[in-house]
Amino acid sequence: MTIKRVGIVGSGIMGSGVAEVAAKAGCEVVLRSRAQESADSMVAGLEKSLGKQVDKGRLEDAERTAVLGRVRAVTELSELADCDLVLESIVEDLPAKLALFGELDGICGDDAILATNTSTLSVAAIAAATKRPDKVCGIHFFNPAPVMSVVEVVRAESSSDATIAAAREFAEACGKDVVDVRDQAGFIVNALLFPYLNNAVNLLDSGAATRDDIDTAMKGGCNFPMGPLELLDLVGLDTSLAIIEALHAASGDPSDAPAPKLAALVAEGKLGRKSGEGFYDYSKK
Ligand SMILES: NC(=O)c1ccc[n+]([C@@H]2O[C@H](COP(=O)([O-])OP(=O)(O)OC[C@H]3O[C@@H](n4cnc5c(N)ncnc54)[C@H](O)[C@@H]3O)[C@@H](O)[C@H]2O)c1
Repeated sequence: MTIKRVGIVGSGIMGSGVAEVAAKAGCEVVLRSRAQESADSMVAGLEKSLGKQVDKGRLEDAERTAVLGRVRAVTELSELADCDLVLESIVEDLPAKLALFGELDGICGDDAILATNTSTLSVAAIAAATKRPDKVCGIHFFNPAPVMSVVEVVRAESSSDATIAAAREFAEACGKDVVDVRDQAGFIVNALLFPYLNNAVNLLDSGAATRDDIDTAMKGGCNFPMGPLELLDLVGLDTSLAIIEALHAASGDPSDAPAPKLAALVAEGKLGRKSGEGFYDYSKK
């Protein structure tokens, strides 16, 4: 594979999941977190996840040791200087991503590919923050990255064929089925999924049905593995709100505006599973 050393920036839900799949694919992984504490807790989380797989007989003990040996947690961005690919997985906020790509562009080697795991934001805008827009694309993993089978490879107008080919090769080496999509808000999955999730919140807020009945209805009625409110909690309500805001900005359609209840929960710090409470309470689980 062209890509041997992968840098991952961002130590949230997605960063740790992608680190696991990349290390399992045989890549050296440099995991960058702003604080040593979160870098260490990501490695601890990875150890736990791999340990569970060994206990269930899905992973050899020797392989667990080898995978962990390929992952290094760091706090300095400069440690990503010799990566072939850097996959950004920080907060879904365009100014934060633009600032990061500008910095990465100055740090990484001229041949390095800089990819974003954004759910909805413009890959072209992110590419324009660098002097290598041909080497920027989207590599959109789903949550949880070790489990979900698909990756969207997003081609901005500036992305070169070689960049897209290397991104595809990397995602396939991670064991994923790759779909290609052009750079438009929400790509394939989130463009279709988030209007539905947003409508579920408005339905709840209207008093038409309870939280549990909405989730039960969509699981039993549509054969979905999770209800919409459970899924929003899994994704993170702040990330979900940012995704819906970006879709709304792209369409300009008032009916795409974020559900007021979703914004209210985020304002209260209720972000879903990651904060311990969202539509459901996880503090006692
Ligand atoms: N949660 C999902 O289901 C999901 C799925 C696919 C893609 N994504 C995308 O992946 C990215 C990360 O999402 P997540 O769910 O892991 O979020 P998260 O909230 O779990 O983690 C975000 C991380 O970014 C860090 N961060 C915030 N501002 C930063 C900055 N300025 N510089 C560096 N780090 C910063 C935070 O400390 C945190 O560790 C987003 O672009 C999101 O849209 C999320």
